[in-house]
Amino acid sequence: MTKPVTVALVGATGAVGEAMRSILEERNFPMDNLILLASERSAGEAISFAGKPYIVQDLATFDPKGVDIALFSAGGSVSKEYAPKFADAGAVVIDNSSTFRNDDDVPLVVSEVNPEEIKNRPRGIIANPNCSTMQLMVVLAPIHRKAGIERINIATYQSVSGTGVKAMEELGKQTMALLNFQQAESNVYPVQIAFNVIPHGGDFMDNGYTSEEMKLVWETRKILGDQTIQVNPTVVRVPVFYGHSEAVHIETRDKISAEDARALLEKSPGVEVVDEREPGGYPTAVTHASGTDPAYVGRIRDDISHPRGLDMWIVSDNIRKGAALNAVQIAELVLKERE
Ligand code: A2P
Repeated sequence: MTKPVTVALVGATGAVGEAMRSILEERNFPMDNLILLASERSAGEAISFAGKPYIVQDLATFDPKGVDIALFSAGGSVSKEYAPKFADAGAVVIDNSSTFRNDDDVPLVVSEVNPEEIKNRPRGIIANPNCSTMQLMVVLAPIHRKAGIERINIATYQSVSGTGVKAMEELGKQTMALLNFQQAESNVYPVQIAFNVIPHGGDFMDNGYTSEEMKLVWETRKILGDQTIQVNPTVVRVPVFYGHSEAVHIETRDKISAEDARALLEKSPGVEVVDEREPGGYPTAVTHASGTDPAYVGRIRDDISHPRGLDMWIVSDNIRKGAALNAVQIAELVLKERE
């Protein structure tokens, strides 16, 4: 008989936490106990899971003993304080924040790309990559293996759900206000997000890039296990609720044609090619990504400005594959170790 499995969701009431609950339910995740944790604010709230009510508990007073897998998505400061406590109590922590992503003794795992890395977790912590890096890796890893990526130029078009529930409310409220000829109030973003695009995500760094941009650089190298890859990112926030889009230009060591790349990606796990050269024959956040699992890729074409260049457009649901789904897929890999 196998030992019962207890899963704890930290940040169970947030945007990613909610997606984790529905993905665990959809995938019929094999667990015996589920513990929902959030701040004192939500403690006592009842949430239904698989037709049964669960009471949200206060993380601050919860004893992690007996938890096998803890999925953390409550922000960096919560992970920093509580993830080591859960790991010390014996849980495998799968952390969605950026707190541990760059630590050498914490693996950074995309389930389709480097699943074997989950074994190298001396601290009992596995990090889930940033949403923009995640969808990029699902598509670029097969190309890197085949042709060796030397350089990536990327501009992201990121949805507001990546910032959290308050950002989604801000986009909704600003849109309503402006359509009613009223002033749009900005609290979450530094400037108006409705009917606008903002070339900024995260904190500004000394080199002029932002922290969200540097995550794309550091995480790409770590996941692909190649510190020589050059990454030149621009992060842009757009007034879209769910789904990040990315205009991606790569230069490879060996030439790979658009046709060969398309054929390779068509058989790559987690990727769906949508690439008809006609109006609407490409993936978008609203028509494809939102609420679904794959990383979609389209507009695949040979770069007319570079002999070994390739262009593409990558779209995925930032809350699902970009966060909750990959975390659950990692949890599934951890459970497989017990078999
Ligand atoms: P709560 O609902 O009690 O505030 P989002 O990023 O979508 O806003 O979600 C953040 C998630 O992290 C929520 O579930 C939130 O719970 C949780 N959270 C935030 N701060 C803490 C904290 N100090 N302790 C535990 N959970 C927290």
